[in-house]
Amino acid sequence: MKKKSSNTLANGGVEGTNYQFSNSSTAYYFDSSFSHLKKIAEQKRSIIITDENIYEAHKKLFAGWNIIVVKPGEEYKVQLTVDTIIEQLIDFAADRQTTLIGVGGGVITDITGYVASVYMRGIPFGFVPTSLLGLIDASIGGKNGIDVGVYKNMVGTIRQPSFILHDLQLLDTLPQNEWENGFAEIIKHACIKDAAMFRQLEQNSVTAFQQDKTQLAELVKRNVEIKIKVVQEDEFEKGERRSLNYGHTLGHALENQYELSHGQAIAIGMAYASVISEELIGFGDANRVARLLSHYDLPTFAEFDKQKVFPVMRMDKKREKTDLNYILLEKIGKGVVKSVAVSQLEKIISELQ
Ligand SMILES: NC(=O)c1ccc[n+]([C@@H]2O[C@H](COP(=O)([O-])OP(=O)(O)OC[C@H]3O[C@@H](n4cnc5c(N)ncnc54)[C@H](O)[C@@H]3O)[C@@H](O)[C@H]2O)c1
Ligand SMILES: [Zn+2]
Repeated sequence: MKKKSSNTLANGGVEGTNYQFSNSSTAYYFDSSFSHLKKIAEQKRSIIITDENIYEAHKKLFAGWNIIVVKPGEEYKVQLTVDTIIEQLIDFAADRQTTLIGVGGGVITDITGYVASVYMRGIPFGFVPTSLLGLIDASIGGKNGIDVGVYKNMVGTIRQPSFILHDLQLLDTLPQNEWENGFAEIIKHACIKDAAMFRQLEQNSVTAFQQDKTQLAELVKRNVEIKIKVVQEDEFEKGERRSLNYGHTLGHALENQYELSHGQAIAIGMAYASVISEELIGFGDANRVARLLSHYDLPTFAEFDKQKVFPVMRMDKKREKTDLNYILLEKIGKGVVKSVAVSQLEKIISELQ
């Protein structure tokens, strides 16, 4: 069952590319414009969900759309926000013919996909990702959900959006630190899947991509295709999709304990994982990985309190008894999933401190 993508002519002559998943497909409108949205989704039958920051920054774009605006930030990716959205959907008399459109970063697309999956047992939805991380990571793959207390993404569903529209102009208002978060995941994709992109990143910089929209659009598309391919091969995370967790096991443990952004936390995780790869499977380029992370203003071998971090790492979702499924690099562009004893991981990390 090989899943191919095909070009389609969607509504109103706006061209999209269809990507097929197990039981649904998503139409992608790369390097498009928000103004095309009404050709893809009927305004009267659609409701946009966004956050206050994006609404304030792009008010004019939303004229003519039904809209629900929620508070920004991870702390609002919770059931209470879901409830307030659902109450508003009822006020709008939303039904199974209604399309929900999440216009925002990963918090908004995660909530929108989740609400659309549970409201009336499921209504159609699409995304306009507005952060770099949203464009190349969070909006892709159909995982959506909410946090419960300290447990991130504890409740959710896997369901693919029917369309994703990209408008890179929206990035003009994205705060600088959010760019770094996005580049951390881009570097992750390069490390595990794409050596040529790794070299391209070495030769460029955040500023270079910000100034060259054509190059940025190509980079975004290339990263979307990397993630889509991994998801297509393993939509329900039985094997291959785990490679997307490169840098994330230690990263998540650090993110929980320290005031780090997700990008900073996984950057440290990737730096350590690259050295662990040298020790365990003969990877030869840990220095290059660290250098690239620094070049994109991301941290590498930050010191941390092992007593605080190791216990959290041991609780990782990808744990099996005393081993962790750790993502290692065989070479730049080739990530592999290896079962490694927790004690061995902790020993190597401790020696580096
Ligand atoms: N579903 C998945 O597979 C998946 C994958 C990775 C991450 N995620 C989730 O994504 C979330 C992180 O996403 P994120 O980094 O986009 O965070 P986010 O949605 O919180 O956005 C970051 C900040 O930037 C602001 N913002 C976004 N776009 C803007 C724009 N164009 N102009 C001005 N401000 C803008 C937001 O209001 C917010 O304050 C996390 O909740 C994470 O769990 C999900
Ligand atoms: Zn991540």
